[in-house]
Amino acid sequence: MFNSLQQKPYSKEHVGITHLNPQYRVDLRSLSEKEYNKFVSINTVPDWSQLSWKKVGKPYEVTTYSKERKDWEEHNERTMDPHTSWTYFNKAFHEWFIKDVPEEKNKAKKHFVKSLRSFRPREIKHALSGIAQLQLWNYVHRIQDGIWDPRGKRALFEGLRLQKPRILFLGAAEGYEAMQLGAMYPGAEIVMVDYDEYCKTTRFAEFPETYPFLGENPRTGSWQVIYKDELNIEYIVDDVRNLDFGKEFDIVLSVGLLEHFPDEYKPEVADWHRRFLKDGGYAILTTPRNQIRSKLYYRVMADVMNHTYRELMTVEQMGLYMYESGFNILRHGYIKVHNGLVCQTR
Ligand SMILES: C[S@@+](CC[C@H](N)C(=O)[O-])C[C@H]1O[C@@H](n2cnc3c(N)ncnc32)[C@H](O)[C@@H]1O
Repeated sequence: MFNSLQQKPYSKEHVGITHLNPQYRVDLRSLSEKEYNKFVSINTVPDWSQLSWKKVGKPYEVTTYSKERKDWEEHNERTMDPHTSWTYFNKAFHEWFIKDVPEEKNKAKKHFVKSLRSFRPREIKHALSGIAQLQLWNYVHRIQDGIWDPRGKRALFEGLRLQKPRILFLGAAEGYEAMQLGAMYPGAEIVMVDYDEYCKTTRFAEFPETYPFLGENPRTGSWQVIYKDELNIEYIVDDVRNLDFGKEFDIVLSVGLLEHFPDEYKPEVADWHRRFLKDGGYAILTTPRNQIRSKLYYRVMADVMNHTYRELMTVEQMGLYMYESGFNILRHGYIKVHNGLVCQTR
């Protein structure tokens, strides 16, 4: 068994296990064929040139904004700008990743019982919504592991012909997916970029050192467990628009970026993925899926998640944006709560 007090509690002998800790799931399993078919659906569009917006429709816009955004706009008498909205989002979201969920659930239940004794409907409603949020977070993030989804992400990222790749992560936040890629492609050099400083100083800095990423041992070709401090990572705090890299990356990655830009800006965002890519390099993108359960999630978690403009889209819509911006779609699919694309420039 592993010792959770150890700095690196998991090693090669734990490959295949999953374990729930108070904040997140540890998942060192690979997908069985049955699970693969349930959680991963790859390459459903045979020919991207045959798709049209008329056929696929446009994304769904999430319009329930957080209380913080509404209060800020009322106070400042203007629409909240994207940079400010990200600073609010990152703080609110990070607070959920560091919750001890079972303990918080107990507290929330006690709070609810207390609120009942107050006979004040507003207090009772508030306590109930706290319970609903915690239950949903517990299910989506901790039980289902839908947000990090290491098995789905590995299915999307696997099989690229790359040795010691240079990886650029645009809008990196806590940097999870670049670390998963780094574990899968040994010797990777990772550059993370986010213009919200809090992402570097807190979200990434506090990402658990003990979290095990499943990757490959280049010497043996078998699985190995990799930790954050074993990866080669540089974190830049800046606007993507200010980067002065050349075409020097094998992978340019974004996770949850494209859907935050209305259509008139999407070609620019697509271009961010092309500008720094070597010839033959891969642009990898994921965005949240347009499905009923995601709509419910963004409604219940509005105060945590909805400071920014946000769309939910299908993988066909996502692929068409990138195809129309001059990318070939090599792999596309659905994982648990996200769509994923692996593309190359045409
Ligand atoms: C939705 S988050 C990515 C999702 C992430 N996996 C998470 O857990 O929050 C998008 C990130 O992109 C960053 N971002 C947005 N526009 C940017 C820009 N122009 N330059 C740099 N970072 C940007 C935001 O600060 C935010 O941290």
